[in-house]
Amino acid sequence: MKISIIYWSGTGNTETMAKLIAEGAQGAGAEVYISEIGKLDHPKSNESEILVLGCPAMGAEVLEEDEFEPFIAHIEPKLTGRKIALFGSYGWGDGEWMRDWTARMQKAGAVLAAESLIVNEEPNGDDVQRCKDFGAAICK
Ligand SMILES: Cc1cc2nc3c(=O)[nH]c(=O)nc-3n(C[C@H](O)[C@H](O)[C@H](O)COP(=O)(O)O)c2cc1C
Repeated sequence: MKISIIYWSGTGNTETMAKLIAEGAQGAGAEVYISEIGKLDHPKSNESEILVLGCPAMGAEVLEEDEFEPFIAHIEPKLTGRKIALFGSYGWGDGEWMRDWTARMQKAGAVLAAESLIVNEEPNGDDVQRCKDFGAAICK
């Protein structure tokens, strides 16, 4: 199975999650294409069966606005029936940005391959395994 992990990360926390998720998915037998949003190879990401998208909580409980939000707005009309999974790191909030983002993608017709994954700041302790398990769960 081919999956694409596409993320934005300002201070590296969501990037660490992305790499752990890739590890979990590869362990489950997936062929993984992983890229930060700014270096995205669109044809490669389009080939994948599952689009795994990562972005931290930014602004006031929103997606990063310069690169990631425009990308999401661009793919939003094409998500009907598309398998996706969402992840990201947050700070002081309660995960509102992820609840909103998840609901928005479902409304656009996307099918969630796993429950959206959030981690507080840098993944450590149990978070490491949670990220790997998320990667593996997506591929089932
Ligand atoms: C400009 C800015 C806005 C943020 N807004 C929120 C927010 O609304 N809610 C929240 O829980 N955390 C917020 N955070 C905290 C980040 O989501 C958190 O530090 C996260 O780990 C950053 O992930 P990254 O290292 O992948 O960039 C904000 C951080 C920055 C720099």
